[in-house]
Amino acid sequence: MLSALAIANYRSLRQLTVPLGRLTVVTGANGSGKSSVYRAMRLLADIANGGVIRSLVREGGLSSTLWAGPESFSAAMLRGDVPVQGTRRNEPVALRLGFAGSEAEDFGYAIDIGLPSSSMPTSFSHDPEVKREVIWNGPWLRPSTQLVDRKGAALRLRGDDSKNWLHVGRPIPAFASMMTEYADPHAAPEMLTLREQMRSWRFYDHFRSDADAPARQPQLGTYTPVLANDGSDLAAALQTIREIGDAGALDRAVDDAFPGARVEVHVNGDRFETLMHQHGLLRPLTAAELSDGTLRYLLWIAALLTPRPPSLLVLNEPETSLHPDLLPALGRLIARAARESQVIVVSHAARLIAALDDSDGLQPVVLEKQFGETRIANLDMSEIPRWEWPAR
Ligand SMILES: Nc1ncnc2c1ncn2[C@@H]1O[C@H](COP(=O)(O)OP(=O)(O)OP(=O)(O)O)[C@@H](O)[C@H]1O
Ligand SMILES: [Mg+2]
Repeated sequence: MLSALAIANYRSLRQLTVPLGRLTVVTGANGSGKSSVYRAMRLLADIANGGVIRSLVREGGLSSTLWAGPESFSAAMLRGDVPVQGTRRNEPVALRLGFAGSEAEDFGYAIDIGLPSSSMPTSFSHDPEVKREVIWNGPWLRPSTQLVDRKGAALRLRGDDSKNWLHVGRPIPAFASMMTEYADPHAAPEMLTLREQMRSWRFYDHFRSDADAPARQPQLGTYTPVLANDGSDLAAALQTIREIGDAGALDRAVDDAFPGARVEVHVNGDRFETLMHQHGLLRPLTAAELSDGTLRYLLWIAALLTPRPPSLLVLNEPETSLHPDLLPALGRLIARAARESQVIVVSHAARLIAALDDSDGLQPVVLEKQFGETRIANLDMSEIPRWEWPAR
């Protein structure tokens, strides 16, 4: 299980270490940094999928994603005696992301991305570069437990005797993570383990529910233990839960939210269609006829009752377009999912947060913005995990 997520110089997250529990609920006012925390998690997953530099460029490049405030605030700035002003940078620009687990055998990972340094003429001279990457054992980076160390193009691995470093001859390109550029299962098994772990993280963000939404159309049905991100395979995912998952939980989840209602998957050849029987109607409604909120709720059921739970499930604002009365039932589904997977939920729905209040392993994280910088409002220093970044 992950115990900490650390982010530096990404949007309003100048320096933030977030403690993670079995179920972490991240909340806060508009503009406090919730979506930035979600996006930072996604960037970490993009690293393992080989797309982090592309994702950053799509977000507007380092010039737009890097923390736009000063390197640090002086006491006079904080008192309001002098305006917040940029002092000359003493340190190189560094967007940093990392995570770690609490156990000694858990792997921790950190990456440091910066501005290109090379003076070689290239058309990609604005692309961000990976400057540092490290993997270690335990809750924070220590020289003695470091396993993999990348500095610029140079990669070295801890030898079998755990004292000496083995230098990998082949240089790692500046635009790529070692996690996708180097994958020798014998020399660095921890790299492969960690990469597969990061690739298995599952994210759900706003499901579409407009008239043309993929979830509203009948689809080719195949065995679907994991709902697609766009919800297009809703019917097949529901039917998979019915056949190899917890069919009782599926029926209870529907009844919990819509008393007396029942979902059925109609199979016509290889086409699957979601049907919903509701109280007082003579025929079931198809997915195309369901209200936005009802369809979204069915999508959450399919996502959260997955017969193949991931190690980590990250949900961004699952309350979107649900009536507040549905939120307690959604909370029960999320709490149930947190028994199988570690869950991070970003939400600003008070009723959803209240519904999760007495869940096992709950870690509430309330974000606030001070001087443009995101901070954790509900925890004191002793509750924030220790974190060390690798030096450049
Ligand atoms: N490069 C940057 N440097 C500093 N702050 C930034 C930068 N880019 C964006 N911000 C600010 O970061 C803040 C956090 O944004 P974020 O989208 O994470 O907020 P949020 O908590 O999700 O808000 P909402 O509830 O409105 O969705 C915003 O106020 C935004 O203006
Ligand atoms: Mg947001």
